[in-house]
Amino acid sequence: MKRSLSMEVVRVTEAAAIASARWMGRGLKMEADDAATTAMRQVFDSIPMDAVVVIGEGEMDEAPMLYIGEKLGSDPAGPQVDIAVDPLEGTNIVAQGSGNALTVLAIADRGNLLHAPDMYMDKIAVGPEAAGKIDIDAPVIDNLKAVAKAKNKNIEDVVATLLNRDRHQPIVDQIRAAGARIKFITDGDVAAAINTAFDETGVDILFGTGGAPEGVIAAVALKCLGGELQGKLIPSNEEEVERCRKMGIAVNTVLKMEDLVKGDDAIFAATGVTDGELLKGVQFKGGHCTTESVVMRAKSGTVRFVEGRHSLTKKPKLFMQD
Ligand code: FBP
Repeated sequence: MKRSLSMEVVRVTEAAAIASARWMGRGLKMEADDAATTAMRQVFDSIPMDAVVVIGEGEMDEAPMLYIGEKLGSDPAGPQVDIAVDPLEGTNIVAQGSGNALTVLAIADRGNLLHAPDMYMDKIAVGPEAAGKIDIDAPVIDNLKAVAKAKNKNIEDVVATLLNRDRHQPIVDQIRAAGARIKFITDGDVAAAINTAFDETGVDILFGTGGAPEGVIAAVALKCLGGELQGKLIPSNEEEVERCRKMGIAVNTVLKMEDLVKGDDAIFAATGVTDGELLKGVQFKGGHCTTESVVMRAKSGTVRFVEGRHSLTKKPKLFMQD
């Protein structure tokens, strides 16, 4: 993959973040998502690549843009890549005006991303120190002990993060029984998974069930960061079981990093929409706005934090497009 793609794609997440941040706290999650999707779609076609969406807004008949199978990019002779997008990760977060909404995308060479169906995935994720030490099939306490040991902490100091959902009560009980602490999130387990790789965010391990597409995108980020995510698809009806079967994935199969994102290269980019532990959200002031993004590449291990200052008067329609 071309190295320069990293810097190109951050323009995509920036544009989506600026567009969707306009909807913060307005109670309109579909509008926030549409704004992000439209902005993302427009910028994608200015990038010299031959890309196909493998994780997107849905199938062709249910999504007008960024649908699975859609071709993107301005150069059919350019690098052949697959793209996974979540134009707005945390639609409710933006609608409610709370924290940690991101615009995210992941890119890998053609054929290297798991085409995760839109169903739930059971996940466990850690940053680089605990990578290789976790096991999604092991009891919660064993994973907490492994993380504590890897990070040279007492188990009481370990902070697990998970979506605040009734379905997670058994995990919550086990974390509490082990004496570890919990940071609940209302939405946005991609940000939570990434946060496990950064000490300053205060979380050490992610547990629980969330979207499978989000699982693949988070796995790309953790691959770049040297962390680890393991997942198991959780079909909730016969149709979803059939989808797994067609993909050749038995329901209880543990999907490891190499199953989620193959090869040694991949790129991940995210921009903060609302303020989070890792990235600040979009700030508007007069004729400009500011963004904070992270862009990283697995092959080189480079992680860049990119601060953007964008003129809203020079690019009134699509802020990032030249
Ligand atoms: P959206 O941005 O699509 O609303 O997803 C937010 C999210 O919280 C994901 O981060 C997470 O994987 C999933 O939804 C959890 O699903 P549910 O809300 O059904 O528990």
